[in-house]
Amino acid sequence: MKREQIFKLAIEDFGDLLNTVLSPANAIKVPELLQGRDKQLLELRQALTARGRHVFIHGFRGVGKTSLGYTAANIIQSSDNKPLYVQCAPDGTLLQLIHDVLKQAMPNNPLELKKMVERNGSGSLGIGKFTISAGMRQTIEQGKIPKPESINDAVELICFVMERHSKRPVLIIDEFDYLPHAEHINVDLFIKKLAEVDNLPLKVIICGVGETLESLFSAHLSTYRYFHTIKLDRLELDNCYAIIQKAAEALDVALDETTMWRISRISDGFPHFVHLICEKVFWAMYNDPAKEWIDVGQIKLSHYRQGALAAVAAANEELRKGYEAAVRSTSPSAEVILYSAADGHELQRTPLDMYNSYLRIVSDNLNLAEPAKKGEPKPTVLSEAQFRGRMYYLCRENFGKILRTNGKGWYEFSEKMMRGYARLKAEARGVELFPDHPLEKKKMPTVQTSHRLVEFLVHNQESGK
Ligand SMILES: Nc1ncnc2c1ncn2[C@@H]1O[C@H](COP(=O)(O)OP(=O)(O)OP(=O)(O)O)[C@@H](O)[C@H]1O
Ligand SMILES: [Mg+2]
Repeated sequence: MKREQIFKLAIEDFGDLLNTVLSPANAIKVPELLQGRDKQLLELRQALTARGRHVFIHGFRGVGKTSLGYTAANIIQSSDNKPLYVQCAPDGTLLQLIHDVLKQAMPNNPLELKKMVERNGSGSLGIGKFTISAGMRQTIEQGKIPKPESINDAVELICFVMERHSKRPVLIIDEFDYLPHAEHINVDLFIKKLAEVDNLPLKVIICGVGETLESLFSAHLSTYRYFHTIKLDRLELDNCYAIIQKAAEALDVALDETTMWRISRISDGFPHFVHLICEKVFWAMYNDPAKEWIDVGQIKLSHYRQGALAAVAAANEELRKGYEAAVRSTSPSAEVILYSAADGHELQRTPLDMYNSYLRIVSDNLNLAEPAKKGEPKPTVLSEAQFRGRMYYLCRENFGKILRTNGKGWYEFSEKMMRGYARLKAEARGVELFPDHPLEKKKMPTVQTSHRLVEFLVHNQESGK
C-alpha cells in the first residue's frame, strides 16, 4: 500500500497496520520482528537440543527477555500445537503454576478431556508411555482438570499431559522474579525430578528480571545445573535503528537519519521506548491535517516533537510515578540531576562525571539553573558539593531510591529502564543528552553544545558559590 492510502485509512485500520510492526506493550513473538538477538536465538535453540536441559533468560527489566523466550518457543515448538505460557505471581506457588500449565495444555471441553483417559482395547491409557494415578484419572473422567497436591503429582501430570500436547512441547515460565523465594525449593525439586524422566520431550524457558542468576535463585539450590543461562543486555543502537527503519518502511515513509539516531539514543537500548516513540510519531503524522509532506514522504520536525511529548505522557505508569515522586519533593535541580545520571551510555557513573554533565546541560539550558537568589540578577548553578548533597537525597527511601550507589563511588538508576524514561523526559523538554557510546561516535551526527553559560559558570565557581 502507498502512503497516500495508508494515511487515509480509518483509525482502526491504521492502528492495525502499526501493530504489525510496532508493539510497545507486548512481547515480540516472531523472528522477523526480533532485532539484534540472532546470536542469542541460535544459542538458545542449540542449548535446548540437549535432553533434560532448559534455558533461563535473565537481565534488566524491559530488555526483551519475554520476546526472546517467546520467539524461540514459537520456533522450537512442533507445529502440532502452540507453546505454553504462564506467569509467576507474588503470592503464587509452584503447584498453582503447574495447575495453570495444565489448564492451558488440556482441552477445555469435558468430553474431549475425558477422551484423554479413555482406555483402549488392551486396557491401557491411550498410546502414551506416561500414566497417572487412579485418583487423578478419576478427576479427568469427571471432566475436571486435576490440581497437583505434591511435586510428585506435578511431575506425573506434566509428563502425562505434555506427551499428549504435542511432539515437542515448549513451556515458558515468565516473571520468575515474582515467585516467592520460599517456593524455589519446590522448583528445584520439580526440575530435578523432570530431569530423571527418560525421553520427556518438554523444553522449559524461564524468564526473570535479575542481573545475575544467583540474585534470582536461592543460593543453596543447584537447579541451575539444569539450565543454560542467557544474560540479555540492552539492545545495541543499530538494532534500535533497525526497528524504526522497518516500521517506517511498512508505512512507506522516511525518517531522516538524525531523527532515527535520536530515537535510538533516547531509548537507551530499551526497545519499549523505540516502539513507543515511533508509534506516537506515526500517529502525529496521521493526525496532521496538513498533508504536504505526503509527496516526499518525509517526517517533519513537528511530528517528531509531538511524538516525543505523547510518548512521555503514555510511558509506563510505574516509571512515571517513580520519576514524579522523586522530583516533586526535592530541589528544582532534582530533575537535572536525573538527566545528568542518564547522560552518556554507561549505566554507572561517578559523581564527577555526572556533575560535568550537569554543568553542560545547564549551560545549554539556562532555564534549568537554580532560580536567582534574592537580590541576585542571575540564576545560579549548584557547586559540586551541593550537587553531591542533592544526589544523595535521590538515593533515599523517601525519594523512592530512584538512584543508588554501589558504595565504591559509582551511581546508577535503581531501575535501569528509568534511565530511558529520564532521557525521554529530557528530550521532550528540549534537553539534549549525550550518547557517548564508543562505537556510535564514528557514525552518528555529533551533538553540539553551545556552552552559553560558560562565562557565567566560571564566575560562579571562582566566587565559590
Ligand atoms: N529484539 C527486539 N526487537 C524489537 N523489539 C523488541 C525486542 N525485544 C523486545 N522488544 C520490545 O520491547 C518491549 C519489551 O520487551 P519484553 O516484554 O520482551 O521485555 P522483558 O525483558 O520481558 O520485560 P519485563 O522485564 O518487563 O518482563 C516490547 O515492546 C517488545 O515488543
Ligand atoms: Mg517479560
